[in-house]
Amino acid sequence: MINQYFFEVFEAVPRQGPGSKTETVKAFNLADELPNNPVILDVGCGKGKQTLDLAAISDGHITAMDMHQPFLLELQKVIRKKNLQHRISTLVGDMASLPFVENQFDMIWAEGSIYIIGYHRAMSEWKKYLQTKGYLVFTDCVWMQENPPLELVKYWNNEGLKLPTINQIKEKAVESGYEVITHFTLSHASWRKEFYDHIDKVLEVVKQKYKGNVEAQDTFFAIDKEIEVFDKYHEYFGYEFFVLKCM
Ligand SMILES: C[S@@+](CC[C@H](N)C(=O)[O-])C[C@H]1O[C@@H](n2cnc3c(N)ncnc32)[C@H](O)[C@@H]1O
Repeated sequence: MINQYFFEVFEAVPRQGPGSKTETVKAFNLADELPNNPVILDVGCGKGKQTLDLAAISDGHITAMDMHQPFLLELQKVIRKKNLQHRISTLVGDMASLPFVENQFDMIWAEGSIYIIGYHRAMSEWKKYLQTKGYLVFTDCVWMQENPPLELVKYWNNEGLKLPTINQIKEKAVESGYEVITHFTLSHASWRKEFYDHIDKVLEVVKQKYKGNVEAQDTFFAIDKEIEVFDKYHEYFGYEFFVLKCM
């Protein structure tokens, strides 16, 4: 349920998906053949928490792209405050039709956003924008165990997401012409402490603010439901960080 109430919640939290600086840094450092000043596209960057982390650990230039302009306006404020205008540019755009030229980037980064067009499409459509040995780095939600509970499968189906396994993503990567450099699982803290704890606090406030507003309360209920599902079933699914390199 993506509406103004959904955005009010997500605009108020530091990051818009699970993750952490430690894991962003870990994944970046595993891409060990990057040039000194890599040209990076951060796609579906949200308010740019990981964009800023990438700027802090690389000497490159980052294009931070998102569909939702208010997220980018927040990022721009931080860019100005930290004097990073020469290192980060923001762009409102759709990841389904990237407005770039071939071989433009050394790295395409997609934390928590690749699911929007799906890893199949992203792997094939974005490859042409990467340099010969460029990297595609992303997190995606995957099954962590076989035979997950039916309630959980139904939940994700209702959300319109068919979760893959880690092996399915690896197989597709190889088929699409990437080498799988590595992959690792995001920690529980990256979901709870870094993401859902902030959302819980905002939900408390907005539930009061919009008392009696059915559409708003339905939206908050759906966000609460996702958190409840995570708390109950987090052993069965999780976010996997993948570092792929064009072959
Ligand atoms: C789950 S959030 C992840 C944001 C950020 N990478 C993070 O981890 O905090 C997904 C982001 O993708 C953006 N998005 C949704 N559809 C998009 C599209 N078609 N093209 C570009 N960005 C999109 C959303 O606005 C949102 O900021």
